Amino acid sequence: MTLLPTTYINQIGQHVGATVTLAGWVYNKTEKGKLVFIQLRDGTGTIQCVVFRKNVSEEVFAAAKSLTQESSVRITGGVRADERAPSGYEIDVTAVEPVHVAEEYPITPKEHGTEFLMEHRHLHVRSAKQHALLRIRAEVIAAAEGFLNDNDFIRYDTPILTPVAAEGTTNLFATQYFDLGTAYLAQTGQLYVESGMMSFGKVYCFGPTFRAEQSKTRRHLTEFWMIEPEMAFADQDDNMVLQENFVSAIVQRVLARRSADLATLDRDVTALANVKPPFPRISYDEAVERINAAAATGTTVQPDDKPLPAIMWGEDFGSPHETFLAAQFDRPVFVVNYPTAVKAFYMQPVDGRPEVVHCADLLAPEGYGEIIGGSQRIHDMQLLEARIREHGLNPEHYRWYLDLRRYGTVPHSGFGMGIERCTAWIAGTHHIRDTIAFPRQLYRIYP
Ligand code: 4AD
Ligand code: MG
Repeated sequence: MTLLPTTYINQIGQHVGATVTLAGWVYNKTEKGKLVFIQLRDGTGTIQCVVFRKNVSEEVFAAAKSLTQESSVRITGGVRADERAPSGYEIDVTAVEPVHVAEEYPITPKEHGTEFLMEHRHLHVRSAKQHALLRIRAEVIAAAEGFLNDNDFIRYDTPILTPVAAEGTTNLFATQYFDLGTAYLAQTGQLYVESGMMSFGKVYCFGPTFRAEQSKTRRHLTEFWMIEPEMAFADQDDNMVLQENFVSAIVQRVLARRSADLATLDRDVTALANVKPPFPRISYDEAVERINAAAATGTTVQPDDKPLPAIMWGEDFGSPHETFLAAQFDRPVFVVNYPTAVKAFYMQPVDGRPEVVHCADLLAPEGYGEIIGGSQRIHDMQLLEARIREHGLNPEHYRWYLDLRRYGTVPHSGFGMGIERCTAWIAGTHHIRDTIAFPRQLYRIYP
């Protein structure tokens, strides 16, 4: 016995003239006298199945008529090439086998509000746009891992329950860990992945990360997925070369393999075609100058055309600043050497200029903001310990991390790319919540 279909809709072109059995869900159904048209969706595509009363038994025709939106069904019929059909093929149905006739489906072709759709997210993921977005997400992940595996990076999984903070203490999710005190959900796998780097040379971790962000922006989730490569014997320049090759490979693979999904989303792909190395690099100092020069002349920023605010040297950028900077380039731009004071404790200070660090944020074009944060890490034990203290952290809690600087320390660098930010940019979708099946946000934990 098997329940599997004999083929899938994306393979249907190989079966013209043959009889196939498909299995899927009713996307839409219309009736016209002696004809029932079923739009069948099987996850790989959608195809029109035509049930003609004269060609089938009374039972089969009745079964076809009984199908409601999102009913599950197995359909058997002959494959016919048809230029008028959106998919290029149609099925002349000979048998209809309902698996479950669905109750009245809450999501209809009419417009629904965001709140309603988010409340029904478990069903919303079946709709064409969400489907395209999640496929692009899956391609981004496959491309990212594929690139790293092809370049001899070893996947090295890091823990989610951790005893201390790695990216600041203000946005930690805490939980009681038996008798051992408080555990925190990982904000990053970086500190642990550095141990793997000292073992394998080139490693990456990939998994969910958690930040109790109080922000409601279109770029923030409280749970997001991050891929974090780490390389031994590599400085920040080496790190940026890796990043521009990595991001370009991801974009070009999505363009090559997911063009139908990009078209479903009406994504203008001309901007993506430019995404090839090298990416421009500007310093934080220069970025501040550019921002202040533009702010002084009353420049406004998309999407709401608000005036670009001026900035003091030493402040971190807000999203209007990032949007303004990125808009000046036709591909992602690295902003390098941020002030030490706004960055994490582990970043390597610049020689002779300790007020800035060897780091870069990679800003995506078209207002999608920072997609990568990366840096060269401090490899000197004394300096790292001093920085831990300056951040009000207890070096005793970071004993194992300091150990990595005690036994064969090397200059090393790495970065983290947020999968949802990257997907939102490539897919050209306004809000990051649409790039993950179940977004976790300040005001949402259901479903
Ligand atoms: O710049 P971040 O905080 O860097 C780190 O966590 C480093 N430890 C990474 C490393 O060097 N291994 O975060 C990295 C990326 C950001 O550029 C962004 O893409 C994403 O993670 N990110 C978020 N995505 C969605 N929602 C949030 N709240 C995010 N915070 C960061
Ligand atoms: Mg960052």
